[in-house]
Amino acid sequence: MPDPGGTAAALASGAGDAADAAARTVPDYLLHTYRWAYLDRRMLFWLDRPAVVSAILWGNAGRLMAAAASCFEAGQSVLQAAAVYGDFSARLAQQLGERGRLEVVDAAPLQVANLRRKLRGRRNVRVRVHDLRQPLARRFDGVCCFFLLHEVPAEARGRIVDNLLAGVEAGGRVVFVDYHRPGAGHPLGLPMRWIFRRFEPFAESLLDQDLATLAGRPQDFTWRKTLVFGGLYQIVVATAGPDRSAGGAGPGPASR
Ligand SMILES: C[S@@+](CC[C@H](N)C(=O)[O-])C[C@H]1O[C@@H](n2cnc3c(N)ncnc32)[C@H](O)[C@@H]1O
Repeated sequence: MPDPGGTAAALASGAGDAADAAARTVPDYLLHTYRWAYLDRRMLFWLDRPAVVSAILWGNAGRLMAAAASCFEAGQSVLQAAAVYGDFSARLAQQLGERGRLEVVDAAPLQVANLRRKLRGRRNVRVRVHDLRQPLARRFDGVCCFFLLHEVPAEARGRIVDNLLAGVEAGGRVVFVDYHRPGAGHPLGLPMRWIFRRFEPFAESLLDQDLATLAGRPQDFTWRKTLVFGGLYQIVVATAGPDRSAGGAGPGPASR
């Protein structure tokens, strides 16, 4: 469905030609499926709270965020692939310390503006608009992708994964935290199926997917998967091999 009357611009950022231009980068699936969650500034007030994020993740937000942040070290440069409500970026910036650098990219100008406001005064953070279906311009020591993949259509996932994998230096880690198919009999299996059907139409197609199979060159990385909370969540760490500048992908157009 086309965006009626260019409302993306108004929703995403307010007014003005520059804002209109930036808003044109907003992917269709965000406009049509997640407009209420990420493009409506009235919802920020309700959703952008650690307690709400914790409730959405059934009390697991703290430990999932801590596990993701602990994959990175002080002094590293890390890319956060898309904004996250609550205090995740502040935690990551804290982990990297004054000598580290956190760069956060998001396709929605409203999310970028909101995160800039939340992180104002932190000198080790940069936030900018970027659609992760497009290649990154540079490499980082690490990349963190927290609950993004279940929100993108299956056909965009491989491209995003490849762009993120291409964005780390040799030895660097790309950390994915996301939903996973819970074990049979998990008490939240049924409620989550309803929630996915109602609010997260792309999530179901991620649950059984081995994230390594989304990569164009999985052999360039070592993959470690940890299941959390009865398998409802997964933490996947892909570590780039030492020789990727010779044979592996680098920043540049994704191959699909
Ligand atoms: C990280 S995901 C979900 C995070 C989690 N539900 C939370 O607590 O916020 C949400 C973000 O992904 C962004 N996003 C979706 N598709 C994107 C893409 N192709 N490139 C960059 N950002 C994207 C949305 O704009 C949104 O801010």
